[in-house]
Amino acid sequence: MAILVTGGAGFIGSHTCIELLNEGYEIIVVDNFSNSKPESLNRVCEITGKYIMIYHLDLLDSESLEKVFLVNQIEAVIHFAGLKAVGESIKDSLKYYKNNITTTIIICELMQKYNVKKLVFSSSATVYGLPDTVPITEGSPVQAINPYGRTKLMIEEILQDLYISDNEWSITILRYFNPIGAHESGLIGEDPSGIPNNLMPYITKVAVGQLKELQIFGKSYSTVDGTGVRDYIHVVDLAIGHVFALDKTLKTSGVKIYNLGTGKGYSVLEVVSAFEAATGVKIPFKITQPRTGDAAICYANTSKAEKELNWIAKKSIQDMCEDSWRWQSHNPNGYTKNEELENPRLIRSEVFLMPKN
Ligand code: UFG
Repeated sequence: MAILVTGGAGFIGSHTCIELLNEGYEIIVVDNFSNSKPESLNRVCEITGKYIMIYHLDLLDSESLEKVFLVNQIEAVIHFAGLKAVGESIKDSLKYYKNNITTTIIICELMQKYNVKKLVFSSSATVYGLPDTVPITEGSPVQAINPYGRTKLMIEEILQDLYISDNEWSITILRYFNPIGAHESGLIGEDPSGIPNNLMPYITKVAVGQLKELQIFGKSYSTVDGTGVRDYIHVVDLAIGHVFALDKTLKTSGVKIYNLGTGKGYSVLEVVSAFEAATGVKIPFKITQPRTGDAAICYANTSKAEKELNWIAKKSIQDMCEDSWRWQSHNPNGYTKNEELENPRLIRSEVFLMPKN
């Protein structure tokens, strides 16, 4: 029996693959590599010494996806695949609704057809919109403020309705706060295409000399130093959270929602200082206008995950900065230009292209 991981080549997906393999799970990855590289999975195999079956296909291609269910014994699905850039979602909302919502419906229909009713879904703290109070609990009001956030919220509602229609389902919704960091090997990490939208990849690109300076979006928020505060969580802690969530999902039924964060908030300036202290690299910055739609403060109450999943984030902001920097400095161009690691002898994963007929 295997765990099907959609979007397994992405930042959170690839780190979760490692933790699943380390726990002895057999995994099958489905990815269209639209925003990720197959090389990340080669490196997952290199780190773990284990084998992954990979299907290069788009989840909108339901016929090909059905073949994956037909030829494999799938026990549960962890559904990471989806588009995630807030700005792009405002400019091209239909693309986001079609991709994120339709693909989730397709995968759930196939799960139902093949009696695989165990699902872990990647949601986001974005569903809390601009929170009135912190720390944010799972019961805090939800109010997405952009199409990307609305796709996450709509999917959460679809999944709740799915359970109401069929109580055999076991669905766990994970609301991530701000994942940063990288695997401590320095072999896998975040590899955004183009200019990063998020804080840490922007900082590491400045540190490696590819971008001139960080722009800090606003310094007049009601926070410790006027800059925005977020709950940064090490991606490996987040990945381990998925293993705990999966274990619970396999043993129970119902719909459960968990915040995955650390419960601590850091301002942008605090992250810059922590990065400089952890790496010895100076980050030039300038203060610019606030970014539309940004909350002042956002951090999680994580007691529900601690109590029910027995999971807690363990890594510090220093670990996050050191590991982000190790990844970026060892891989200045992400997954593309590292010939030694692209040596085919190291490739242990196997990529299948599903035939059209
Ligand atoms: N920031 C800057 N400069 C930058 C980038 C970010 O000052 O170049 C600031 C932001 O204003 C914010 C903080 O750094 O105060 C973090 O910003 P990120 O873009 O890294 O993260 P967000 O909290 O805005 O968004 C992230 C994900 C979303 C997700 C959300 C959930 O990118 O997909 O967390 O809370 F929805």
